Amino acid sequence: MTARPLVIAVDGPAAAGKGTLAKALAAKLGLPYLDTGLLYRAVARRMVNAGLDPAGDASVEAQALQQQDLARSDLRVPEIDRGASLVAAQPAVRAALLDRQRVFASETGAVVDGRDIGTVVFPDADVKFFITASPRTRALRRHRQVAGETPLEGSALDAAVSEIVARDARDSSRETAPLVQAADAVLIETDGLSAAEVLDKAGEIVALHHTRR
Ligand code: CDP
Repeated sequence: MTARPLVIAVDGPAAAGKGTLAKALAAKLGLPYLDTGLLYRAVARRMVNAGLDPAGDASVEAQALQQQDLARSDLRVPEIDRGASLVAAQPAVRAALLDRQRVFASETGAVVDGRDIGTVVFPDADVKFFITASPRTRALRRHRQVAGETPLEGSALDAAVSEIVARDARDSSRETAPLVQAADAVLIETDGLSAAEVLDKAGEIVALHHTRR
């Protein structure tokens, strides 16, 4: 009998290091990686480019989403950070994107990163992680990702922290699929940990799961 393909859920708030961990874990395990945030970002981008407010009904754009929308280079900009969390609060948008996420992992398994992967998209995932860090650490990490080593301090740091806290609040307080740690998810607090240390911790937990399968 062949074991069913391994599905690993990686959830958590903005810029906590989910993507870094999920990508590295996928490479280590030879599994495909799915960044579900890109789906919401691409829907927000379609809204903005059509001259529409992402807070308005985005269901038509979600249904019309094409593979090439995900390959755009302008999805990780502040306007789309905010727009993604506005379209993601809409139940019709989430419903339109659900099957796409499930189909991706159904045949081969996958490491999937997002906000509701362990709670809604794959409630039966083999291993679930909830990755987090303080808002300050996360603001600094996101800044480093987009601006390299240019310093972030004073009022600019305060503004970046506020933006992250506002997005977390929107993601956690929405009615449909809010950002919440699944009861059976393993929490990893990543303040003070390097990407390699987080990967080691997560790898140990996946290995433990394998010995139990
Ligand atoms: O990379 P970062 O953590 O900043 O964000 P992301 O994972 O690309 O997600 C962007 C936005 O999409 C989030 O703020 C959520 O509002 C939404 N999202 C969601 O609602 N559900 C998911 N599974 C993934 C993302």
